[in-house]
Amino acid sequence: MDELSTQGLFITFEGLDGSGKSTQLALCAQALTAQGYSVLTTRNPGGTAFGQELREILLHSKRPVFPLSELLLFIADRAQHMDEVVFPALAKGTVVLCDRHMDSTLAYQGYGRGLSIDTIRELNHIAIQGKQPDLTFLFDAEPAVLAQRVNHRGQADRMEGEKAAFHNKVRAGFLALAEQEPQRIQVFNALESPEALHPKVMQSLEAVLKALDSLKA
Ligand SMILES: Nc1ncnc2c1ncn2[C@@H]1O[C@H](COP(=O)(O)OP(=O)(O)OP(=O)(O)O)[C@@H](O)[C@H]1O
Ligand SMILES: [Mg+2]
Repeated sequence: MDELSTQGLFITFEGLDGSGKSTQLALCAQALTAQGYSVLTTRNPGGTAFGQELREILLHSKRPVFPLSELLLFIADRAQHMDEVVFPALAKGTVVLCDRHMDSTLAYQGYGRGLSIDTIRELNHIAIQGKQPDLTFLFDAEPAVLAQRVNHRGQADRMEGEKAAFHNKVRAGFLALAEQEPQRIQVFNALESPEALHPKVMQSLEAVLKALDSLKA
């Protein structure tokens, strides 16, 4: 696939809280490792030591955080993460599996909070230095159902604590993004069992894995 400008693969997992991102990411990492790929699992926000500090503020600050400053902190986390983690791994031919990335910022801060989508696209572009995910998996379902999966976790974070209307807007945002980029963003029904979803995710990966294999051959 000639649009792969680096040797590795950059795959992102997106969806609401409780949609099964981390579950599918772990299964995917396991399967790819078993197939002999070098795999790195990471996340936004918080995939670096500095990003972990930003994550604490973003998800747990008790102080008023205005939408624009929240957006800029997510972008700062992403910029740090690309330079410190993603680019070095891709340069080594690693398959990078990232739990949330630029589409979450568009869905939550754009469609959810109402900040300008164009502005977020521009800021994302700066943070990722033009390196879009090669493939994105979106796990979709009704927010109320997904919330039930994670409500035993205790204290909700700043995003989880938002009202149902917010999560509905975020869901619609993710789906709108998938419609705009159907090649990159593959949508899965998050209500299917983890065991049913996993092979579908692996199948979606086949084309980009082939491209990676041919680059290495
Ligand atoms: N396909 C599925 N069907 C039913 N339950 C699932 C499915 N996938 C994950 N779960 C369960 O739902 C809960 C949330 O899953 P998981 O942590 O993978 O979601 P997540 O999208 O990473 O959530 P968060 O954004 O909060 O980290 C877990 O208890 C997990 O075992
Ligand atoms: Mg998770």
